[in-house]
Amino acid sequence: MATSSSSVRTDDAIKLYERFVNPQWVRLLDVLRMNVSYDRCVGCELRTTDGRRILDFNSGYCVHNAGHNHPRIRSALKAELDGERPAMLQSNVPDLAGELAARLCERAGGRLTKAFFASSGSEGVETVIKFARAHTGRTGMLSARGSFHGLTCGALSLMSDGFWKDGFGPMLPDTELVAFGDIDELSARLASRRFAAFVVEPIQVEGGLKIPTREYMRQAQELCRRHGTLFVLDEVQTAFCRCGPFLAAHIFGLEPDMVVLAKALSGGLVPAGAVLMSQAIFDSVYSSFRRAIVHTSTYSENALAMRAGLASLDVLEDERLGERGARMGDELRRRLSERLAGFEMVREVRGVGMLTGVEFQSPRRLRLRVPFEAFARIHPAMFGQVLVMRLFRDHGMLTQICGNDFMVLKVAPPLIVSEEQLDQFVAAIGAVVKLMHGGGGFWSEALGMARRVIGSI
Ligand SMILES: Cc1ncc(COP(=O)(O)O)c(C=O)c1O
Repeated sequence: MATSSSSVRTDDAIKLYERFVNPQWVRLLDVLRMNVSYDRCVGCELRTTDGRRILDFNSGYCVHNAGHNHPRIRSALKAELDGERPAMLQSNVPDLAGELAARLCERAGGRLTKAFFASSGSEGVETVIKFARAHTGRTGMLSARGSFHGLTCGALSLMSDGFWKDGFGPMLPDTELVAFGDIDELSARLASRRFAAFVVEPIQVEGGLKIPTREYMRQAQELCRRHGTLFVLDEVQTAFCRCGPFLAAHIFGLEPDMVVLAKALSGGLVPAGAVLMSQAIFDSVYSSFRRAIVHTSTYSENALAMRAGLASLDVLEDERLGERGARMGDELRRRLSERLAGFEMVREVRGVGMLTGVEFQSPRRLRLRVPFEAFARIHPAMFGQVLVMRLFRDHGMLTQICGNDFMVLKVAPPLIVSEEQLDQFVAAIGAVVKLMHGGGGFWSEALGMARRVIGSI
């Protein structure tokens, strides 16, 4: 097997990946019948090497808000490379970082006037933990059950789902969880005045597209202020106009003390993350000349990430993608609700902006309930994965179920998705849901998958 070429053939590339990276991931994709090779990704469309056209309704988990390989972001990156400017020296003032920070703070508003750059969302959450402790002098961290904050140890410690945590302990001490949306529980915990920060997603995305009430979020902020706890929003999936406004915080009229950003920040082409914070928090960490670099990260302010960030903001603003996504998202939910009405396994279509969840439920009719429960016993995600697989294989639609709630299908195409593409998606999910309720094909497919899963364990 040749390993010297940078463009190995697809089969060889898969073998190399299996051997040197992660064979389990390859097996999982095989089981799901989703192990295809892509050779061109533009806007919402992905083209496979065997000539299929797939529509991306996952956006790499809300990375590709501007669409895949947006021409303006690509040319900004090419120009940056061609300019042979300093990519990263760690011994200078990176000019693009200042410009990007200024624009992010201006768009975020409120008390967010300083930025720390990172290279991922998890790294942003780690930053929040350190800065909140430094600022408040408290060690406790409070977060909400069902959330997803990342897979580094600190971020994991703020999550409830054992799947992600088991075997990786001990987690950070002094972390506690509250039920998302329960203001009384939050109030009681905050009253202990032990918590440096309450870290929460404004909309729980992987938790099943859970949208809190405006009162809950506003009261949560108010209670945090009253008890000296920082109110921190993890907007790794919800920011950059995914929900309409620049931040989901703006939907609820919130003014958080810190916000974590990543994913769509750099247009899906360069890893990037950021934590926006108040001046007071910044001052608690970088409190003196001696502490100028007390918290930093090698690649965080690198020129390509910063350039991609600036170009992504230009695209979001110039193409008015927030307004567009919000309008089209409402339309998508209207069409989905209409198409999926009357199917007993569809519990709800909900969402905000271009972020939609279709929640399914156990069927009432015995004929459907028996196979449904049998497959749920094999693996709780089985039902959702058959749905995802069917959408992909039969209709060329790439979607995912939520990571912490397998009964919710996440629908999050790039904000540039066209009406025609939305129609194609609605027709596709309509056909799969109809099949699911007809018994037969959907469940025998599930049986096939169950056999493959059991064969792979
Ligand atoms: C809400 C949220 N926070 C944090 C993270 C972690 O981000 P990353 O994978 O870039 O570390 C994710 C990743 O999916 C996320 O959805």
